[in-house]
This record gives sequence, C-alpha cells and structure tokens, in this order.
Amino acid sequence: MPVGSVAAPADSGQPADGHATTAAAPRQANAAISADTTGFSPPAADAIPDNEFGEVVRKGQDYFLHTSRLLPQYTGNSLNCVNCHIDAGRRADSAPMWGAYVLYPAYRKKNGHVNTLAERLQGCFQYSMNGKAPAADSEAIVALSSYMYWLASKAPTGVKLAGQGYKRLPAPAQPMDLDRGKAVYAAQCAVCHGANGQGRKTAGVTVFPALWGDDSFNWGAGMHQMPNAAAFIKANMPLGKDNTLTDQQAWDVAYFMNSHERPQDPRFTGNVQETRERFHSADDNLYGRTINGVVLGAQSVPSGGRLRGRDQAAAAGK
Ligand code: HEC
Ligand code: HEC
Repeated sequence: MPVGSVAAPADSGQPADGHATTAAAPRQANAAISADTTGFSPPAADAIPDNEFGEVVRKGQDYFLHTSRLLPQYTGNSLNCVNCHIDAGRRADSAPMWGAYVLYPAYRKKNGHVNTLAERLQGCFQYSMNGKAPAADSEAIVALSSYMYWLASKAPTGVKLAGQGYKRLPAPAQPMDLDRGKAVYAAQCAVCHGANGQGRKTAGVTVFPALWGDDSFNWGAGMHQMPNAAAFIKANMPLGKDNTLTDQQAWDVAYFMNSHERPQDPRFTGNVQETRERFHSADDNLYGRTINGVVLGAQSVPSGGRLRGRDQAAAAGK
C-alpha cells in the first residue's frame, strides 16, 4: 500500500452517530433515489410567518447563513453552518435541518448519552465551528432550533426521512491514496479553496471556506471523518458540478483534505495517541496517524481559534 493509504472503513450501512438502527432499512431502500425525489419538502423560504415566532425563525436562518459574522462570540473560525448544510440547510443528502430536527433527542456514540437538539447544536459550535457552546437556552440555540422546527413543518417525528444525513458512498474500490487525492484537489478544488486549503475572503467575509488549517473545522468535527467528507464532496463539490467526481476521486480528495493539520480537538488530553484512542479509534479518520513523516494532531494549534485570543485578553484584563 502506498504511504498514506488506509483501508477504507467498512460501510456498515449504519448512521455514524447511532440513530435508531430500525431506520437503516428505508435509507438503504432509497439509496438509488436521487436527491430531488425525496418525499419531504420544507416550506418555501418566503413562507416564514409574519409574527413573533416568524421573527425568531428568520433570525435562526440568518445565524445559519452568516454564523461566524453574526455569532462571533461562539465561533472560532470563519465558517458558516450553510457551508456544509447546503442551500440554507434544505438540501437533501447534505444533512438537511428538516431531516435532523425530527430525530432528536437521540443517543450519540460521540458522547455516550441521549442528546437533546440543543446539545447537538452546541456540538456544532465546539467542533465544526471550532468555537464554544452557546448555553442551551441562549438566543442563538433558540433561534437555530426554531428555524429547524419550521423547516420540518408537517414532517413525522422519529422517522428517518429520505434525504436525511449525507448519502454514504460505497467503500472505495482501491485504498484511498494521497497522490491521487492531491491531483484531484489541484485540478478541481484549489481554484476556489486555495492552493493551501485556506479558502478565500472578500472584505473579511468568507467567499470560499477553508478546508484545513487554523481557520477551518477542528479535529473533533464530523467532516474529519472520511465517510462524511467523501459523501459531502461527491454530492456537492466542485460547487456547481455536483456528482461529477467518481466515488474513488471523492474518497481520495477527502483523504487528501483530511491529511492536513487543523485546530486541535477540544477534548485533547495532552497526548495525541491517548486522544486518538479515546475519541478517534475508528478507522475512518487520520488523527494521530503519521502522514509524510508528520503525526497529525501533534502540531495542531489549540482549538477555539480567535476566541482563545479574546479569552486570554479578557483574563489579562485587556
Ligand atoms: C465543516 C462542516 C460543517 C459545519 C460548518 C457545520 N456542520 Fe453540521 N454537520 C456536519 C457533518 C459532517 C455532520 C454529520 C456528521 C456528524 O454527525 O458529526 C453534521 C451534522 C449536523 C447535524 C445532525 C444532522 C442529522 O441528520 O442528525 C445538525 C443538526 C447540524 N450538523 C447542525 C449544524 C449547525 C446548526 C451548524 C452551524 C452552527 C453546523 N451544523 C455547522 C458538518 C458541518
Ligand atoms: C467553484 C468554487 C468551488 C470549487 C471548485 C470547490 N468548492 Fe468546495 N465549496 C465552495 C463553496 C462556496 C462552499 C460553501 C458552500 C455554501 O456555503 O453553500 C464550499 C464548501 C466546501 C466544503 C465544506 C466547508 C468546509 O470548509 O469544509 C468542503 C469540504 C469542500 N467545499 C470541499 C471541496 C472539494 C474537495 C472540492 C474539489 C473536489 C471543492 N470543494 C471544489 C466552492 C467550491
């Protein structure tokens, strides 16, 4: 096997985070159905009611679209929820918010207990947004969950709707490969996300989000797991040319993307191998693995991004 290749994780057909196993069957049955033929459609964007509730829903939508700008107190990078939950969290197979809303509270392997929706959203801020958790009853969580509730209007609860989550790809035919992934990246991704994965901003506003490095999601985020990244990339990237990569290309470029440093896992114990054993032991990620002579995670900047500097300044009385 070439250096930097790992065997693909077996595709168990189970959702990554332990939602009801009974739901796996309909999901598989729907595997051949394309995104636009799912049974559920959220209400039209202009149908948000003109009342007090609608105001909060609209605020939730704004937070979802402009997360790092509107909620700087909770976000340590420049990403927005919509960067990974495409089309304002509406798009099927891109972990749409209507599909998620009806599945909580749910047991999550990630933390070993039943999570309310609020706790699930807190995790998004800590990991995907490399920030810190808003309080469960904060305006941010209330608004985001109201937006999700509204998107899920008339959906049955406790049902895994077609289009929920990211649509898992079959295991790659060949082991994922760094050189092939690098070539895909250079040809199809770097034009927007930058030669170094750094993304691009205009006047401080993110135009193309960072895929790795200090301004991206941290090692605790779901996107660091190759099955999530490959599924997301195949269905959504290159932007405007979704589903044009082969499955193998999607796996290879996911592998390349996640073979770079990013902010530390907030659960870091002080030791990379110990952190790997506790939180990253599955074969679906590269944390703690040696790539090109570098142990991933060993040189990560601490999690929290720009919040860290602010907290330190506050502690120093500045
Ligand atoms: C860097 C990409 C990324 C960003 C940014 C991001 N997420 Fe996610 N999100 C994911 C991935 C990948 C998953 C699925 C894997 C997992 O369970 O961790 C996910 C899962 C979820 C789920 C559960 C979906 C389900 O069907 O169970 C919710 C809810 C969610 N995200 C909300 C948010 C919100 C709200 C924000 C912004 C505060 C956000 N996410 C930001 C990548 C992202
Ligand atoms: C035409 C520009 C463009 C190209 C080319 C492109 N992307 Fe993206 N990418 C975007 C934009 C814009 C977003 C955010 C989408 C949104 O907010 O609706 C994004 C989001 C992402 C995300 C989730 C957010 C994050 O920062 O992690 C990943 C992962 C990603 N792209 C990977 C890739 C990969 C891999 C390729 C090449 C196969 C690629 N992209 C090609 C524009 C592009």
